[in-house]
Amino acid sequence: MVNVKNKQTIAGFIPTMGALHQGHISLVNAAKAQCDLTVCSIFVNPTQFNDLSDLKNYPRTFDADCQLLDAAQCDVVFIPEVSEIYTFKELELKKLNFEDKSWTESKTVDFGSLVKVMEGAHRPGHFNGVAQVVSKLFRITEPDKAYFGQKDFQQLAVIRSMVNQLAMPIEIIACPIIREPNGLAMSSRNERLTKEERDKASLISKTLYKVKELQTIKTIAELKAFAEDQIKAEPLINLEYFEISDAETLQPITDYKQAKSVVACIAIKLGSVRLIDNVILY
Ligand code: PAF
Repeated sequence: MVNVKNKQTIAGFIPTMGALHQGHISLVNAAKAQCDLTVCSIFVNPTQFNDLSDLKNYPRTFDADCQLLDAAQCDVVFIPEVSEIYTFKELELKKLNFEDKSWTESKTVDFGSLVKVMEGAHRPGHFNGVAQVVSKLFRITEPDKAYFGQKDFQQLAVIRSMVNQLAMPIEIIACPIIREPNGLAMSSRNERLTKEERDKASLISKTLYKVKELQTIKTIAELKAFAEDQIKAEPLINLEYFEISDAETLQPITDYKQAKSVVACIAIKLGSVRLIDNVILY
C-alpha cells in the first residue's frame, strides 16, 4: 500500500473485523466516492475483547468477506495475522491487565472521561484495544481518510481523540448507520440472533426514534424513563444502559441546555448477543 501510493493518490481506509455486511460496504462506497485507492482491513482484534467467549464466537467469514469486497470493487484487502500486528509482550500485557486506563504508543494516549461512560464503563479496556489496533493499522496503511460507522458513536469519538493526540494526518469520516428493513442497526453480531430475537430487536431503534420524536415535549429524565420502560417491557431484552449525552464529550446531561448537540445511546443484551445503537437528537 505504501509502495503504490504517490503524492497525488488519496487513499481511503476502512478497518473492520470482518463478517462484513452492507454497513461495511457503505463505508467502502463512501471511500470509493472520495478517494483514488480504497483499502479495507479484516482483523479480529484480540486486545479489544474483554470477554474471551465473545472473541471465540466472533464470526469469521473471510471468503464471503472477500467476495463482498470484490463486488464492491475495493482495491486492496489487508488480512494480517495476529503475530504481524502484536508482539508477544503486548498480548501478554493485555491478558494480565484488561482494565489499564492508558495505552502507550510512542507516547501515552489518555482518553480521560470519554472512556469512563457507556461502552467504556461496561467494557473496561475495550477502547484501549481499539485505539491500539487502529493506530497500528493507520501506521501500516498510511491513509489520508479513514471511514467509521456512526453506530459505534463512542468509538468514533475515541478514534478522533487518538488521531488528535498523536497528530496523525488522517481525516476521520463518520458514515450513517445502515439498518435492516425492521430498523435494526446492521452489525456482524446480528448473525448470531435467532429469527425471534431479530424481530424483537426492532424495539431498539423504534424506542430511539420515539425518543427523538418526544424530545420537544419531554424532559431528559422523562425521556430516559420512557426508553427504559419500553425496553424493560420486553422480557427477552436486557437493558445495559440508555444514556442521553453531549454528542461531543459523551458525558450524560440532565438538561438540554447543557449541550450543543445531543445523542441518545443504548446497549442491550438479547440472549447472548450484545447490541448497541444510537440516534442524534439534535
Ligand atoms: O469497529 C470495528 O469493527 C473495530 O472496533 C475496529 C475499528 C475495526 C478495530 O478493530
